[in-house]
This record gives sequence, structure tokens and C-alpha cells, in this order.
Amino acid sequence: MRLGFVGTGAITSAIVTGLNGGSGGDTILVSPRNAETAAALAARFPNVTVAASNQAVLDGSDVVMLAVRPQVADEVLSELRFRADHQIISLMAITPLNKVAELVAPATKVTRAIPIPIVADRRGPTAIYPPNPVAAEIFNRLGSAIEATSAEQFIAFSSATATMAPYFTFAEEIAAWLTRHGVPATDARRYVGTVFQGLGNIAATTQEHSLAALAGEFATRGGINEQVVAHMKARGAFDALSEGLDAVLQRMKAAAR
Ligand SMILES: NC(=O)c1ccc[n+]([C@@H]2O[C@H](COP(=O)([O-])OP(=O)(O)OC[C@H]3O[C@@H](n4cnc5c(N)ncnc54)[C@H](OP(=O)(O)O)[C@@H]3O)[C@@H](O)[C@H]2O)c1
Repeated sequence: MRLGFVGTGAITSAIVTGLNGGSGGDTILVSPRNAETAAALAARFPNVTVAASNQAVLDGSDVVMLAVRPQVADEVLSELRFRADHQIISLMAITPLNKVAELVAPATKVTRAIPIPIVADRRGPTAIYPPNPVAAEIFNRLGSAIEATSAEQFIAFSSATATMAPYFTFAEEIAAWLTRHGVPATDARRYVGTVFQGLGNIAATTQEHSLAALAGEFATRGGINEQVVAHMKARGAFDALSEGLDAVLQRMKAAAR
């Protein structure tokens, strides 16, 4: 596949890294900005070339990922000449599909995807909308493509990506609590990381059990897990999480108007 990236930043770097760890024999063209990131990718992977310009990325690619920040999308994309046969995959978190479609005309094969940085390890779930076989094939190689069947679903998945930093903050709270009780920081860090690795693996691989059922399984009646869940519920911790996601969803919807 001849794959091009307009915008060579954090998410392009993660995708290119993941693709090169897999089995695909892609030819990859990256745009010259950011110069340092583009040069590093080309130095690391023989199938990656830094194009002379954004237009050169388009001219040498069949599938084009748009990976600039939404704030510069108009300025960057409006001066490029897309082809009708280009397959466009927009990674821009906020820019709505109709806006992307306007910017990339005459290309009509346009889809949005919302990868997260763990695609670099080929463990990323990537929501796609509208469903698209080319995007699904690429993101299945980088973990798991999840084809949203409505714009509403896609925006909900996009909002849910706001739980990554809260997850690390939750993990940090536990590790810091352990260190306040005399555990060396390195042991606390290793303990928390390993617990969540194991639990995350169970959540991802035992689809036959709902997450609520797993929470029940890990909470002995009258036991300490049940105690902490009840305490956090009583203090509104889970409601606060839902409310935070509601606020993100509203923000995304407002930005898309
Ligand atoms: N990071 C994530 O986890 C993630 C996940 C999903 C979607 N996204 C989306 O992906 C897009 C990129 O995010 P990012 O985190 O990768 O941001 P980033 O690290 O800031 O990358 C954006 C890149 O665009 C480059 N750029 C700026 N102006 C340009 C131009 N005129 N032509 C070509 N490239 C230009 C920047 O280069 P300079 O450094 O030289 O300015 C930078 O390398 C955003 O729309 C974001 O919403 C990101």
C-alpha cells in the first residue's frame, strides 16, 4: 500500500511505528513537518521517505492520512490538489466529516479514524466512521478497528479517548498511596502497572462476561473490593467520570457544528 501522512507528529509517529512492527509491506511517505520527527522515522524505517512537500505526499500516495491539528486544517489542506481516487483517512479529532470532504474534493472516499498512541505497539482500538475496508484493514493491523455505524457512536468513542490521562491519574493515586505507607516507589509503580496489565487483559479477552459481571467477580461479598466500590459510589466518583465524559461529548458536538 502507498500510504502518505500530511502532518508528521505524535500520532503519525505511533502509526508508522506500529505498521513497521507488523507484516505489511507498505511504502510510506511523510510530510516534511515536523522535520525532526520525519527524519527520525525515515532513519529508523527503510520504507519511510520524507516527501519534499505536502503535495508530494499526495502525489506519491493512494491512501492519505490527515494528521495535522484541526486548527490548521483549512490553511494546510485547502491549498493541496487531491485526486478523485485518493482514499482519505482523517485523524483530526474535531473536524467533522462534511468539512473534511469539502477540503479533499474531488476525493470522495473519506473516512474518519480516532487512533490512540498504543497503535505503536499494535494494541490500539481505533474507531472508524463511516465504515471503510481500507481503514479497517490498516487499523486491524495496529490492534483492532472498531467500525462505528453512526456519527453519534463515533463521537462517543472519540470522547471516550479522554479517559487515558484519568486512568494514569487513578493508577498514580494508588501508587502514591502505597508509597505513603512505606512501599518503595519502584515497587509501588511495578505493582500497580502489573495489576492493571493483568486486569486489562481479562477485560479485553473475556468478552463473554460483562464488565459489571467482572466487577462482581472481583468483589467478595462483604470484602474489601466491595467496600471501596461502595465508598467511591457514595462519594460520586463514578458519576463524576460520566459527567466529565458528558462534558467532553458536548464540547465535541459544539466544535463539530
Ligand atoms: N496524539 C494523539 O493521540 C491523537 C489521537 C487521535 C487523533 N489525533 C489527531 O491527529 C492530529 C495530529 O495530532 P498529533 O498529536 O500528532 O499532533 P502533533 O504532534 O502536534 O502533530 C501535528 C503535526 O502537524 C505538523 N504541521 C503543522 N503545520 C503543518 C503544515 N503546514 N504541513 C504539514 N504538517 C504541518 C506539525 O509540525 P510542526 O511541529 O513543525 O509544527 C506536527 O508535526 C490532530 O488533528 C489530532 O486531533 C491525535
